Amino acid sequence: MKVILDMDPGIDDAVALIMALGSRDVEILGVTVVSGNVPVDQGVRNVFRITDYLGRKVDIYRGSEKPLIRDLVTSEHIHGSDGLGDSDLSLRDGITARENAIKFIVESILGERVSIVATGPLTNIAKAILIEPNISSKVEEIVVMGGCFGLTRYAKGNVTPYSEYNFYVDPEAAKIVIRSGARIRIVGLDVTQNPSSVLTRERAEDLRNIGKGGELIYRITRKPLIERGYFELHDAIAMASKIDHGIVAFKELYISIDTCYERGRSYVYTEPSNSDGKALVGYDIDSERFYSLLRETLK
Ligand code: RIB
Ligand code: CA
Repeated sequence: MKVILDMDPGIDDAVALIMALGSRDVEILGVTVVSGNVPVDQGVRNVFRITDYLGRKVDIYRGSEKPLIRDLVTSEHIHGSDGLGDSDLSLRDGITARENAIKFIVESILGERVSIVATGPLTNIAKAILIEPNISSKVEEIVVMGGCFGLTRYAKGNVTPYSEYNFYVDPEAAKIVIRSGARIRIVGLDVTQNPSSVLTRERAEDLRNIGKGGELIYRITRKPLIERGYFELHDAIAMASKIDHGIVAFKELYISIDTCYERGRSYVYTEPSNSDGKALVGYDIDSERFYSLLRETLK
């Protein structure tokens, strides 16, 4: 499968990238970076850090510096001041990202069957849809890590009690993407905060010995695991759901995004009338199958 990864790396974005790089089933057409966990230029540097560490090359595009309307809210308090767990990964001189991520997204989707895996605020994707609405019918599917829908007891907001970070940072972009009519698969906190799926110190020790990718995951998660004892791999679960459809269970629901009262809150309905649009929304996870796939991609 051909994919564009749109991300704000971010520790769990980095794990999603490591998985995609290690999967025989995924051809990464490019990585487009968006401001989120860290500002876009730090995110670009982090993609170079990850790919250089693994000895891999991908086309990296610099995307949106800020949300469509709102002020940017970063999350270094979770991802570290560098966005990669203060892991101090080396960065070579002379790195340059390609400009115009939005143009790359539009031209790629108009050119061939491509999926997007979006693991940050949806600013880049929304801009691409606004510039060229036809991409919503041509894109294979858009896998989104975002939202919190009340489908499980784990569905508690991670910015406010009801809002998930990616939808909170750019709720207008999320609304535009949902309203576009594209085929959308959403992996929200309902699934990614399931305790059975979190990275623990034990799991990180287990992964540490599986190739350079496992070593890298250990390095970037070491600090938050010392501080908190666990780390949610939100974006890696979204990536895994694209590679193996048996990992996350989905149901088709109608959803809306609040851009007025509670910034970024997301609602589900069984009927279309009050919604922005429909999507496949994740409601359960096979965590053992997820970690088995993660280990496979590291070998
Ligand atoms: O709410 C979790 C999401 O916000 C993940 O994508 C994480 O990387 C942060 O961006
Ligand atoms: Ca992210």
